[in-house]
Amino acid sequence: MRKVSQAIYDRIDNGVYAVQSDQWWQPESAWYQMTVTFNPARVGYAKRKLIEELKFDPKATSALEVGCGGGFLTEEIARMGFATTGVDPSERSIRVAADHARQSGLDILYLTGAGESLPFEDRSFGAVFCCDVLEHVRDLPKVISEISRVLKPGGAFYYDTLNRTWASLLGAIKIGQVWKRWAFFPPNLHVWRMFIKPGEMKSLLRQNGLEWKDHRGTMPDVPIPRLLGYLRKRAKGEWTYGELAGRVRMIESRITAVMYMGYAVKKDPSGADADPKKLERRDG
Ligand SMILES: C[S@@+](CC[C@H](N)C(=O)[O-])C[C@H]1O[C@@H](n2cnc3c(N)ncnc32)[C@H](O)[C@@H]1O
Repeated sequence: MRKVSQAIYDRIDNGVYAVQSDQWWQPESAWYQMTVTFNPARVGYAKRKLIEELKFDPKATSALEVGCGGGFLTEEIARMGFATTGVDPSERSIRVAADHARQSGLDILYLTGAGESLPFEDRSFGAVFCCDVLEHVRDLPKVISEISRVLKPGGAFYYDTLNRTWASLLGAIKIGQVWKRWAFFPPNLHVWRMFIKPGEMKSLLRQNGLEWKDHRGTMPDVPIPRLLGYLRKRAKGEWTYGELAGRVRMIESRITAVMYMGYAVKKDPSGADADPKKLERRDG
């Protein structure tokens, strides 16, 4: 998969995160309700894979979130015990994230920066997280190469993103943001051509020295006809985003046709197996 053309990239509205940065933690905003809906599945999967299966000790590991926005996932990473850094190109979002972490009593380092040019030395982190971001970037190969560069050998890369299928065109684009009858996001939040097929992800990981381990789908926990009924109520103004999010959770699924998450481990160029328990903290 290559860098997307300027013509396609011009169609995505990544500026919305800066313009609406004050909305990140507003309880009734669409952004905040994403946390309620998406975080349990993401966090549950990341904990299971990194901590239970790979046996990472968060207290001995430094973690980076690329494209952290207002810090929804970053705060969960810090709560898992990782020494946590968040980076995002939106300076306003970074300010909101830093303020919120302070109010929550969490020690998180937040910096402005883009995935294509991460402001860190090689081999700085034991884990890198990147959720709901890869389908927003212009130069995906460069972002994956930067993530690999800042990971220590033996370190893990955890991501989630949207698949480029007819199901995602219908679900994420038409229903999610175009057809006003149901839409819950702005019309240019995502561009279907920028979605990433699991096979494309695997080959980019391989090209960048990252050993792919797993993909797992995420799906709403209610049947589609019922979900459409809920979305209709929200679109008509009968329900708030909060009332919608209170009834729908994303859960793990074997179906990866719309959204999927996964992880990979950075190979040690020397061929030796790196011990994740020996990965140092950000401040260590
Ligand atoms: C949907 S939000 C996801 C925020 C956060 N990861 C979460 O899951 O709560 C997408 C984020 O990607 C960021 N973003 C857009 N282009 C980026 C890039 N080239 N590098 C890093 N982040 C980027 C946006 O500023 C925005 O904060």
